[in-house]
Amino acid sequence: MAQSALIIGASRGLGLAIVAEFLKKGWNVVATERSTSRSELKDYRTKFPSQLEIETVDINSTESVDTLRSALSARKFDFLLVNAGVALGAEDRIETVSADDFIRVMRTNGLSPVAVISKLKNCVSEKGTIAAMSSSLGSVALNEHGTWEVYRASKAALNTLMRSYVARDKADQKTYLLLDPGWVRTDMGGAEADLSVEQSIPRLIDVALAQSNARGLHYLNYKGEVLPW
Ligand SMILES: NC(=O)c1ccc[n+]([C@@H]2O[C@H](COP(=O)([O-])OP(=O)(O)OC[C@H]3O[C@@H](n4cnc5c(N)ncnc54)[C@H](OP(=O)(O)O)[C@@H]3O)[C@@H](O)[C@H]2O)c1
Repeated sequence: MAQSALIIGASRGLGLAIVAEFLKKGWNVVATERSTSRSELKDYRTKFPSQLEIETVDINSTESVDTLRSALSARKFDFLLVNAGVALGAEDRIETVSADDFIRVMRTNGLSPVAVISKLKNCVSEKGTIAAMSSSLGSVALNEHGTWEVYRASKAALNTLMRSYVARDKADQKTYLLLDPGWVRTDMGGAEADLSVEQSIPRLIDVALAQSNARGLHYLNYKGEVLPW
């Protein structure tokens, strides 16, 4: 039977490319977007009608996440990835960021992915993989140059919250991943970024799938390198 993946935050950018990569590999995919407005996901649905289903969720809305959980309650996915994230740009600074923007970024990138994982954990098979899209900018140890200050803090929060979540249950058979795709040319990464989506995502997914059954929590980049916390 084909393997199955649930990708949260797949309307564009890296999430959309990740969906395409799993479809190419023959997986069945449930992909989510925030609204039902037309996104390129629908084009993939036309091309892969038996492999792709589309659901909607806003990871910052408890009600919306609960609705998704109910819709998927009978499912057991092999792979869950929370890809959704936001940024304010490289120049975000603690002196100038508004409290509202700070809270929005910290909530979307730090709190909500782990809250979604907690709610959807039972939709993942006993030895399945649960991943969140982190960033090398979330590494406290690698922060030698500043920039992206609020974004870095939010991904560091994600990493620490995932560590706390995974540390709770030593008997858990699942594998947990914090993934860094590199700096990639998307709406968020911008035109100056090092990598095309095609240079990052196939490698990132191969790295993630190579960890199947590894158990525990692993912080890895698209080259398969272990990142320091
Ligand atoms: N690009 C890079 O260089 C880079 C590097 C390291 C890590 N990352 C991480 O990779 C992930 C994807 O980045 P990207 O470059 O593809 O960014 P992007 O092009 O800006 O896409 C962001 C995605 O997240 C979704 N999203 C945002 N807030 C959401 C919410 N509250 N609920 C549900 N979905 C939400 C967006 O949906 P809408 O279309 O509805 O807005 C969109 O699908 C993010 O977590 C990002 O932090 C990116």
